[in-house]
Amino acid sequence: MAESRPRVWVSQPLFDDVIARLGEYFEVVSTSQVSEYTPQQVSAALAEVDGALITLNERIGSEQIAGAQRLRAIANVGVGYNNLDVPALSAAGIIATNTPDVLTETTADFGFALLMATARRITEAERWLREGHWRQWSFQNLLGADLHGSTLGILGMGRIGQGIARRASGFDMKVLYHNRSRLPEAVERQTRASYVGFDALLAQADHLVLVLPYSKENHHLIDARALLQMKPTATLVNIARGGIVDEGALADALGNGRLAAAGLDVFEGEPAVDPRLLALRNVVLTPHIASGSLATRRAMVSLAVDNLIAAMGFGPDAGSPPNQIGA
Ligand code: DGY
Repeated sequence: MAESRPRVWVSQPLFDDVIARLGEYFEVVSTSQVSEYTPQQVSAALAEVDGALITLNERIGSEQIAGAQRLRAIANVGVGYNNLDVPALSAAGIIATNTPDVLTETTADFGFALLMATARRITEAERWLREGHWRQWSFQNLLGADLHGSTLGILGMGRIGQGIARRASGFDMKVLYHNRSRLPEAVERQTRASYVGFDALLAQADHLVLVLPYSKENHHLIDARALLQMKPTATLVNIARGGIVDEGALADALGNGRLAAAGLDVFEGEPAVDPRLLALRNVVLTPHIASGSLATRRAMVSLAVDNLIAAMGFGPDAGSPPNQIGA
């Protein structure tokens, strides 16, 4: 009798040719539809499998874990993993992995692009032109803020934050950062970034980019009080997680001139976007695409496949996946 192979669930359509590698080891349950699952559907899917390769859309908490008696490993396609209850997974002996590094440069590129679009009002200007408002070239039309020579604040100086700092050098920006822990001097030198306290970062930045991982502790870290400390001429860019910013307070600040502009790739209730933000002209909105170049998204899936194979005890890294969360 043929031995049955472990079964794994792939929650979303990813890249078929990359996912195909899972078929060498596992029985693969996949979908060809982009799917929005209820928590109960996630529980039901996990109850039937030994491993899963999922995206940030699928939330895995104690309710899902309780019924997942066979589950041994979760491979998250993403560097952020606030969709996973890591302590509950660890307590249940389930290995969780993520996909760092492969998306660093692409995400830093995008952070910079969003910053430029926001400071120089690029999407607003395009909308204005398409709507037929351009009757005559005018000197004071759609004036924005300079990047070159300005002060860039980076909140969260991990790999992506450092990538943004390196790009800022090319624009002759002064780079300040705040992080849970100060970086080694050699890294500060290489990124030309200076450590400052949180309040000083808010007060001094002409442009502030958020790149820190989301946690319960930093929920609404950028709230009305924090926004009040920023320069009214400043730009705020969020490529981290929506929950870090109090979107209501941000909409108020953008609406009443307390903050010049914001560029947001992530939202607290995504895919829903606060209607007050949708109505504002001084905010650039994108649908969580910072890591979204074709090459990088393929590399993320490929790494998640490697992680799952290793976490399930197969392949060259059998039993010790290189990207195990909390290991
Ligand atoms: C991540 O990797 O955490 C991004 O937010 C999704 O690409």
